[in-house]
Amino acid sequence: METAEINVQASTHAYSIVIGEGIRKQTKQYLTKDYSLVWIITDENIAPLYLSDVLEACSPLQVHHTVIPAGEQTKSIDFYYQLLTEAIEHNLDRNSLLIALGGGVIGDLAGFVAATYMRGIDYIQMPTTILAHDSSVGGKVAINHQLGKNLIGSFYAPKAVIYDVETLFTLNKKEIRSGYAELVKEALISDELTFNSFLQTELRTLSKTTVKEHILKGIQIKAHIVETDEKEANMRKYLNLGHTLGHALEAQLGYGTLTHGEAVAIGLLFAFHVSKSVYNNHLPFSELKQWLKSNNYPLQLHSVEPQAILAKMKNDKKNEQQNIQMVLLEQIGKPAIESITDEDMLYYLSIFERKLVNE
Ligand SMILES: NC(=O)c1ccc[n+]([C@@H]2O[C@H](COP(=O)([O-])OP(=O)(O)OC[C@H]3O[C@@H](n4cnc5c(N)ncnc54)[C@H](O)[C@@H]3O)[C@@H](O)[C@H]2O)c1
Ligand SMILES: [Zn+2]
Repeated sequence: METAEINVQASTHAYSIVIGEGIRKQTKQYLTKDYSLVWIITDENIAPLYLSDVLEACSPLQVHHTVIPAGEQTKSIDFYYQLLTEAIEHNLDRNSLLIALGGGVIGDLAGFVAATYMRGIDYIQMPTTILAHDSSVGGKVAINHQLGKNLIGSFYAPKAVIYDVETLFTLNKKEIRSGYAELVKEALISDELTFNSFLQTELRTLSKTTVKEHILKGIQIKAHIVETDEKEANMRKYLNLGHTLGHALEAQLGYGTLTHGEAVAIGLLFAFHVSKSVYNNHLPFSELKQWLKSNNYPLQLHSVEPQAILAKMKNDKKNEQQNIQMVLLEQIGKPAIESITDEDMLYYLSIFERKLVNE
């Protein structure tokens, strides 16, 4: 498999995203500078699988590594502080490099450490989940506050993204589904052809070539958007397609019941549903629903009341004004943001619940 490369122009610097098979074993080749020290942060699931390869691939550089527990709970002030302590104790300086080897959790947490330690040191994203095609590109890094997700963070672009698709084949089915929902989201923002080609995919029989192609496409779409609107003034908001209901469901059900992408998948269907009411258009609701179903996405609202969902939607930090700002689709490839009143939202939610079960 050939290695693909996409270049992204961030406001601070340009960086490459390299996507290939087995490229974790060539990590050193992609370092853009002679670093005095490399610090790899990863989690307990990834470490036994891929850490030794990356350690070896950094030789003969001086390398230090840290393995933290897996899961969203590490995106916290406590773990952040612990990592900073380690950085100080290991004498990391402005000529050190941090490598985030893992999914979106490691990428967000280690990225935020890199963004803030000594006012910022270089870091590289080495995504190991499909979902991390999204989180590793665009420079958004963050940790959670008890009162909300991703409330403490920064825009801080990596020096490179090294994406080894080989690592994706140890992911469990839930994580594969989670990542693919974000890919489908990008396809919907982009164009019908891409969307249709994604719907041809059977997640059970995913090949390395297909996953690489889809990730490449997803990253191209995302990279183009973040280059145009790095700080989320307008266009980047389109990437929140499916997230109005997705985030609300995650928050309401407690993180862990649904993966992020599984919640977003339901949110995509909801965006179709609301778009139809607002624009009177014909989006392929049944086709998407069928695809999600046949790939075992859990499609239910778990009996959460519309009122409770609405309350969570209003908690989401992205709703600056009173009405909820929701990303809809005028058609596939043509996203738009509409302001939805509480009353309308409750109505949409109540109908949607039935539509999810019946149609
Ligand atoms: N910064 C952004 O722009 C952005 C965008 C989207 C999501 N996110 C963040 O990403 C996070 C979710 O990321 P995620 O879904 O990758 O979760 P994750 O990092 O928790 O990874 C999911 C699970 O898979 C395991 N895992 C990772 N790679 C593996 C591999 N190759 N083989 C086997 N197991 C592996 C992990 O240990 C974990 O248990 C959320 O915190 C979300 O807020 C950030
Ligand atoms: Zn998302």
